[in-house]
Amino acid sequence: MAVVGEPGTGKTVFSLHYAWQGVKEGDKVIYVTTEESRESIMRQAKMFGMDLDRAVDAGKAIIIDALLKSQSDEWSLSEIDVDELVNRVIDAKRKLGYGRSRLIIDSMSTFWLDKPAMARSYSYTVKRVLYRWDFTIIVTSQYAITTSSAFGWGVEHVADGIIRFGRRIKDGELRRYVLVEKMRQTPHDLRVHYIDIVDGQGLLVKEPAEFSREDLALPESASRKIRESSRRSEELGP
Ligand SMILES: Nc1ncnc2c1ncn2[C@@H]1O[C@H](COP(=O)(O)OP(=O)(O)O)[C@@H](O)[C@H]1O
Ligand SMILES: [Mg+2]
Repeated sequence: MAVVGEPGTGKTVFSLHYAWQGVKEGDKVIYVTTEESRESIMRQAKMFGMDLDRAVDAGKAIIIDALLKSQSDEWSLSEIDVDELVNRVIDAKRKLGYGRSRLIIDSMSTFWLDKPAMARSYSYTVKRVLYRWDFTIIVTSQYAITTSSAFGWGVEHVADGIIRFGRRIKDGELRRYVLVEKMRQTPHDLRVHYIDIVDGQGLLVKEPAEFSREDLALPESASRKIRESSRRSEELGP
């Protein structure tokens, strides 16, 4: 499942809910964090009443810290590299044991920061290798902008589902929203819903929003820039 959206739209908070629900249901949970440290993730979770650190101590969850590398830390990544990621995840899965498992990679886009043309191929590798390990995988990605046609790379093509988070200013106030854009073999709600992120509670889904296409689409100038930079990086190759 691809969870996409601009910074601050709720991708990490959503991922934490998904992880915590797994802990509560007795699933094995692996959370890879690339943009925040493990401590930051656990602190954020605690603000919403999720005791991820206790779950880690109890051997129900493993948080792989890809931001801070340290020799003494069993669960960190020595480099931002997709093969290393996949291997560590398999190590973690072996450690947690058999059974239904949830994997969160937050964020996947970190792995192709300096080589955007590799996005699709990396996503495919992750899916192909980890498919066999009884995971449901959530990957977050900054690139929410892929709705502009001709912009054909990213996790979205490989994913079985796309959940898109977004934000807009309405009446001088930041409003965030969520939309399920794709969910293979599932009849799902097609409406945009506002969300709130509330201290002590986390992410709440609110009323449907009245959006027009123009509200969600990128301005043409932005789409053009993205298409150009995408083409340039494709030409340069991996
Ligand atoms: N304890 C909290 N109470 C209320 N809102 C919070 C709290 N913690 C974080 N937020 C909101 O969540 C936002 C971060 O959401 P996050 O899921 O990290 O975004 P991203 O999509 O970049 O991962 C913050 O900008 C803030 O608005
Ligand atoms: Mg985040």
